[in-house]
Amino acid sequence: MTSPERPRGRFLTLEGPEGAGKTLQAARLADALRADGHDVVLTREPGGTRLGERLRDLLLERSSVAIEPLADALLFNAARAQLIAEVVRPAIEAGRVVICTRFADSTLAYQGYGAGVAIETLRAMAEAATGGIRPDLTILLDVPPEVGLRRKAPDDHTRFEAGFDLDFHRRVRAGFLDLAAGEPGRFVVIDAQLGIEAVFEQVIEAAHAAVGEPLVPPLRMDR
Ligand code: TMP
Repeated sequence: MTSPERPRGRFLTLEGPEGAGKTLQAARLADALRADGHDVVLTREPGGTRLGERLRDLLLERSSVAIEPLADALLFNAARAQLIAEVVRPAIEAGRVVICTRFADSTLAYQGYGAGVAIETLRAMAEAATGGIRPDLTILLDVPPEVGLRRKAPDDHTRFEAGFDLDFHRRVRAGFLDLAAGEPGRFVVIDAQLGIEAVFEQVIEAAHAAVGEPLVPPLRMDR
């Protein structure tokens, strides 16, 4: 448990369908918050630990053996449990800001809304994997799958991009929007079809509201 006198960090996640620009926006956000004086940890799901990166290879490779949606959900949560224990919990207990691309909402959207695993089963799994750690802020970069899937070359597509049809990806997108509507206090939804700069302005505004004001004064250019 976090003791009251220890500064508590923040946990920010970026979510969204394929091709929404999460990785780029997360990297820019990390740079901007570091420039503000925050101690930032940038990580990703699945991945972020040695076990998680090995599971990532297994889960995303296209030549992979067929994986049942329930098995997918358990494997994503296995990677999540390791990430929480190794990276997220220690960092937020040390007062750091953790930025993670994808987290438990991705399992709800992909394995739940997309592939049909019961949402209450997935919520119970996530509770076990995370020990109840939830993001303070989730930025949903929303993009229609027709647009997002075109942003990457087809030979670069993962198992999810290549092996699931457009209807699946439409359910995923609708699922994310439904989750956001259900928790308006945690989610900020941004139209990822806007240009990179316009999206980033909204990302940083949302993040500043969650982590507080810059810790270092901006450089004065007038003297
Ligand atoms: P990405 O890191 O390039 O977004 O690829 C991760 C892929 O894994 C993406 O297609 C979404 C999928 N995914 C799930 O299906 N469930 C999950 O819980 C997570 C974290 C990712």
